[in-house]
Amino acid sequence: MARVAFVTGGTRGIGRCIVERLKADGFKVAAGYSGNEEAAQACANQLNVMPVKGNVSVFEDCRRAVELVEKELGPIDVLVNNAGITRDGVFHKMSSEQWGEVVRVNMDSLFNMTRQVIEGMRERGYGRIVNISSINGLKGQVGQTNYSAAKAGMIGFTKALALENAKKGVTVNAIAPGYVDTEMVQAVPENVLQAIIAQIPVGRLARGEEIADIVSYLAGERAGYVTGATLSINGGQHM
Ligand code: CAA
Repeated sequence: MARVAFVTGGTRGIGRCIVERLKADGFKVAAGYSGNEEAAQACANQLNVMPVKGNVSVFEDCRRAVELVEKELGPIDVLVNNAGITRDGVFHKMSSEQWGEVVRVNMDSLFNMTRQVIEGMRERGYGRIVNISSINGLKGQVGQTNYSAAKAGMIGFTKALALENAKKGVTVNAIAPGYVDTEMVQAVPENVLQAIIAQIPVGRLARGEEIADIVSYLAGERAGYVTGATLSINGGQHM
């Protein structure tokens, strides 16, 4: 029987590429989203996946979303914690809202979503959790103390949860993409973005599909011996 995957932030950007790839791999897929109805409908119709609305920074929303998906598609075998936002600004000018929003959406979401599925995965003796971190959680980035802190936090979470669940058939891994050609990256001021691209040895932004390929591997049954890892996909920008 087809396994079930839930991808947060799955209707746009990297998330949508992951949804498309997991669907092609044969999963029944739910794509989480928080506000953009148009993108959600387009994703659901074009890829034939289940759209699920909810704010990943709200525990109760996540509980409800997981309940809906499990009722419709079955127990969740694969959780991809992909939803993320930026609120860039240098720290000496950063507001507590900019800090809080990023930490809640990018990092508290790991608790809110993963807590809903982990007991079932442990009971069934199988699960794949993939957390989408960032190059900037590894190396830091001017204008992103909030985002870098949250993305680094995701890596600590990944390692601790991997240890706790290794004997239960549940793997937990992180991916640290570099700059991917999405709306999030296109929002970086053009001159700043050009300077960043100049520092990427491969000489271009990543494509979402290139990130989705690695998620596809980690989400599959054959990746059972890979756990607690953080895989970089950054065109050589940070080693
Ligand atoms: N090093 C140190 N300080 C710097 C600096 C640098 N490279 N660049 C700017 N600053 C300082 C300036 O000196 C200035 O300080 P003062 O206030 O003391 O004068 C301050 O930062 C603000 O500078 P500006 O007014 O020139 O710039 P700004 O406030 O308009 O914007 C910024 C600054 C927000 C950092 C902007 O440059 C920016 O958006 N940078 C891109 C950040 C980035 O890479 N974001 C990634 C988004 S995509 C993503 O996150 C996906 C992923 O995972 C990779």
